[in-house]
Amino acid sequence: MSQFNGFDTDLLIDCDPGVDDAIALLLAFGSPELNLRGITTVGGNVPLVHTQTNARKICELAQVFNVPVFAGCGRPILRSLTTAEYVHGATGLGQVNLLEPTIELSPQHGVDFLIETLLASVKPMRIATLGPLTNLAIALVKSPEIIEKIAQVVMMGGATTHGNVTPSAEFNIYCDPHAAQIVMNSGVPVVMMGLDVTHQAIATPGRLAKIRQIGDPIGTLVATLLEDYSHHDIQQYGFEGAPLHDPCVVAYLINPMLFETRKCFVEVEIQSEVTIGRTIVDWYGVSGRAPNVEVVCAVDSEGFYAMLCDRLTALNDRLHR
Ligand code: RIB
Ligand code: CA
Repeated sequence: MSQFNGFDTDLLIDCDPGVDDAIALLLAFGSPELNLRGITTVGGNVPLVHTQTNARKICELAQVFNVPVFAGCGRPILRSLTTAEYVHGATGLGQVNLLEPTIELSPQHGVDFLIETLLASVKPMRIATLGPLTNLAIALVKSPEIIEKIAQVVMMGGATTHGNVTPSAEFNIYCDPHAAQIVMNSGVPVVMMGLDVTHQAIATPGRLAKIRQIGDPIGTLVATLLEDYSHHDIQQYGFEGAPLHDPCVVAYLINPMLFETRKCFVEVEIQSEVTIGRTIVDWYGVSGRAPNVEVVCAVDSEGFYAMLCDRLTALNDRLHR
């Protein structure tokens, strides 16, 4: 069992690949600190048929054959599915065409895999959620006893200020705000990696060049994915490149010292169509409500990109052995 971040725990990743999810998976595959036990997928950036296929394609490309991939929920708990093909491309990996995977989709539903694996685990496990929180929320409703088997949930989602899919809301939370509310109110330890911090981790041209220099297949793939994926954010925000949302979650799991956090009371707005999905972060404690979330507010972006390049290089080298 690997030791990382003060926990001696195994890891589950729930995701909606999605370009940045794909890069987050590759970062995890290149990081021996993380003992990844399974990947569950959810409808989000693109429909579930694509997110589960993309997860298997990325596993295949990285020659990771010992991590099972599951399909979870294809739509949010109450709302209809909102997707983001305008950012991630029609099938979720931009213009990149990877081979159809030979890795089979595991037959068990992703929610049942989460429940079964958590309950069977001797030690509490960590969960990285990179997409809408539907799978984890349903698991918590179906089997609340898993709470004591969850060491930490590190989620990409929310923001203390702006949104990206509406002026108020970040995509993962907006997509399934009811799921987010269930998770944040469940009592599990939550670390929220929101837009405030992921927008500090921009894949600038210089960083993109370093990633491309890693070479085939991993460096070339990640650089090509990012070139496609960055157009939207460059146009929307005037950034020099794409923010690497989901890889920030995996980087936190590897080395939280790269990040600054503050414990806050956070609730999810679900009433008004204008603000639904907004994470209301009580930054100054004015509500008097006890903090329920550790909100990430800053990242050492140079350190993050150095880690990303180091781990992608390690993965690439492994494929050339
Ligand atoms: O808002 C960005 C988040 O929504 C990222 O996780 C991206 O992959 C999408 O899921
Ligand atoms: Ca995602």
